[in-house]
Amino acid sequence: MTAGLLEGKTAIITGAGSGMGKAAAKVFAAQGAKVVLADLNRDAANLTAEEIGQAGEVLVVQTDVGDDESVQYLIKEAVDKYKNLDVLLNCAGVPQFFTPIEEMSISEWDKIMNVNAKSIFLTTRHLVPHMKKMRKGSIINIASIAGIRARPGLNAYCASKGAAIMLTKALALELAPYKIRVNAINPGPAETPMLGKFLPGDEEKVEEDKKKIFLDSVPLGTLIQPEDIAEAALYLASDLAKAVTGEIMNVDGGRGI
Ligand SMILES: NC(=O)c1ccc[n+]([C@@H]2O[C@H](COP(=O)([O-])OP(=O)(O)OC[C@H]3O[C@@H](n4cnc5c(N)ncnc54)[C@H](O)[C@@H]3O)[C@@H](O)[C@H]2O)c1
Repeated sequence: MTAGLLEGKTAIITGAGSGMGKAAAKVFAAQGAKVVLADLNRDAANLTAEEIGQAGEVLVVQTDVGDDESVQYLIKEAVDKYKNLDVLLNCAGVPQFFTPIEEMSISEWDKIMNVNAKSIFLTTRHLVPHMKKMRKGSIINIASIAGIRARPGLNAYCASKGAAIMLTKALALELAPYKIRVNAINPGPAETPMLGKFLPGDEEKVEEDKKKIFLDSVPLGTLIQPEDIAEAALYLASDLAKAVTGEIMNVDGGRGI
C-alpha cells in the first residue's frame, strides 16, 4: 500500500475503541493522519491510543454519538486541538438481536436509531461549519449491507442503516458545492465483537449460527475483516477519491449481489 496517503490530514473516528473503528484508527495513523478517537467506552478508546503509541498522534474524547451535547463537545475538543479537520468516519454502531417487530421495545428501537442513524446527523451538523470554511472534507458513514438487503428480525437495525445510506446521498448533494465529499461503506458480516451480538443463545450456538446465518451468506466464503473496512475508508478519506461522492460502497464479499 502507498504510504502517507493521509499525511497532513486530521480525522475524527467514532467507535474507535473496537472492531472497524479501531482498525481504521490504526490504518489512518499509519498513513500519517492525526486521529481523534471518539467512543462511549473510554477505556477501549484509550487502548486503541496505546496500541497506536508512537506510530501516530491521537486525541481520545469520550463521546456518546447519540447525544447532541456530547457530540458538540467532541467537535469542540477536536477543533481546539487541531483547527482543521479533514475527515469524519462515523463508525460507532449498535447491533440488534433478532426480534419480532411486535416484541421490539420502543426504547430499544430509539437506541438503535439514535446510535446508528441520528449520530450521523449530529456529528455532521457540528463539523460541517468547520469543513465549509476550509471548502474541503471527507465524511464516511459506516452503514451496512443490511441497509439494502434485509434479514428477518433485524427490523430496527435495517431501518437505521437504510437511513444512514439515504442521509449519505442527501448530504453528498447538499455539501458538494463546498467540496465536502460524503460516502458510505456497507460492510458485510464482519469478524468483530458485534457479529455475535446479533444472535441470541449460548456461546457454542452463537459460533454455529454465525457460520449458518452469516458466513454461508457471503459468496466469497469468508467473513469481512475490520481491516477490509479500514482500507476502504482510507481510500474514501484520501485524495485518491477526490472525484467520489454519494457512493455507497459494498465491502461485503458479495453478500449484496
Ligand atoms: N460487525 C458486522 O458484522 C457489521 C456489519 C455491517 C455493518 N456494521 C457496522 O459497522 C460499524 C462498526 O461495527 P463493529 O463491528 O466494528 O462493532 P464493535 O461492536 O466492534 O464496535 C462498535 C464501537 O462503537 C462504540 N459505541 C457504541 N455505542 C456508542 C455510542 N453511543 N457512542 C459512541 N460510541 C459507541 C462501542 O463502544 C464500540 O467501541 C457499526 O456501525 C456497525 O453497525 C457491522
